[in-house]
Amino acid sequence: NYPARVKIIDVGPRDGLQNEKQPVAAAVKVELVQRLQDAGLKEIEVTSYVSPKWVPQMADAASVMAGIDRRGDVRYSVLTPNMQGFEAALAGRPDEIVVFGAASEAFNQKNINCSIAESMERFAPVVRAALDAGIAVRGAMSCTVGCPYEGEIAPEKVGYLAGLMKGIGVQRVDVADTIGVGTPIKVQKALEATLAHFGIDQVSGHFHDTYGQALSNTLAALELGVWNFQSSVAGLGGCPYAKGATGNVATEDVVYLLHGMGIETGIDLDKLIDAGQFISQHLGRPTQSRVAKALLIK
Ligand code: HMG
Ligand code: MG
Repeated sequence: NYPARVKIIDVGPRDGLQNEKQPVAAAVKVELVQRLQDAGLKEIEVTSYVSPKWVPQMADAASVMAGIDRRGDVRYSVLTPNMQGFEAALAGRPDEIVVFGAASEAFNQKNINCSIAESMERFAPVVRAALDAGIAVRGAMSCTVGCPYEGEIAPEKVGYLAGLMKGIGVQRVDVADTIGVGTPIKVQKALEATLAHFGIDQVSGHFHDTYGQALSNTLAALELGVWNFQSSVAGLGGCPYAKGATGNVATEDVVYLLHGMGIETGIDLDKLIDAGQFISQHLGRPTQSRVAKALLIK
């Protein structure tokens, strides 16, 4: 019994580009956002307000947010790891901010330079300030099945983090397989541990495709009734703090899977493929989307 419709957050402009070594002009990011919304995406993760020393590619967050042509029916989200990031983000009027932690202590430390407990102390005032300002709050949970430093992650650790996120007022959470090591049953366990704290409408799947398992994991999540997913156009990306981690599952591939199952997304696959071609050509490498490759040859 699969959901009748699915909502996709394209995280390409943020997760997809954050690890890109060559500088990508803000105007290109703005056009990517434009093409994604033209293709029917209703949620786009645009950028992050993080330290430019840690993630130089996101240093233009303010220009990108200022440059996009906002549509009233699209939700634009941005990452804000602390109060400094949140205050910087305000001028760009994000619809939603994202705080981000990890189920693994070691990854949390490498990614945001503090322990899980400390991160909650940093996030709590950010969450309160956002909610007071009428901005929605999402929590991203990294390494929910495996960690590059700690190996396999027990579902209990995911449940623990989800409980902390809930406790500080986060409204919905992403269950992320940061390094793409997950397989369907393990991913379902991570999702179930999260569902002990959040309703089915508040839990999304964020699967990197490093081991080629992301579509299987998407199907496994759909089986549980999960209907919110994050993916990157053209399969862009990788996390700077997860060595060897490749991009998110390609949005084109997820859309093809869903449409093939009769599940509605509101996304125009052809326009999405064009958006993927736009950014892939700009980066000078082929798309990572199998569906785009297949359809472009036809
Ligand atoms: P820190 O060094 O612990 O922070 O960094 P600090 O408060 O001690 O400040 C040190 C310096 O950073 C200061 O500058 C601050 O001004 C600056 P200095 O005086 O040395 O020149 N700073 C900032 N600058 C801009 N924006 C800010 C900010 N905060 C401090 N918000 C911090 C802590 C979190 C900022 C840092 O560790 C950082 O930026 N990390 C990058 C994290 C990141 O972007 N990771 C990738 C995104 S998460 C991801 O990809 C996973 C996800 O996709 C899910 C999945 O797949 O797993 C979401
Ligand atoms: Mg990610």
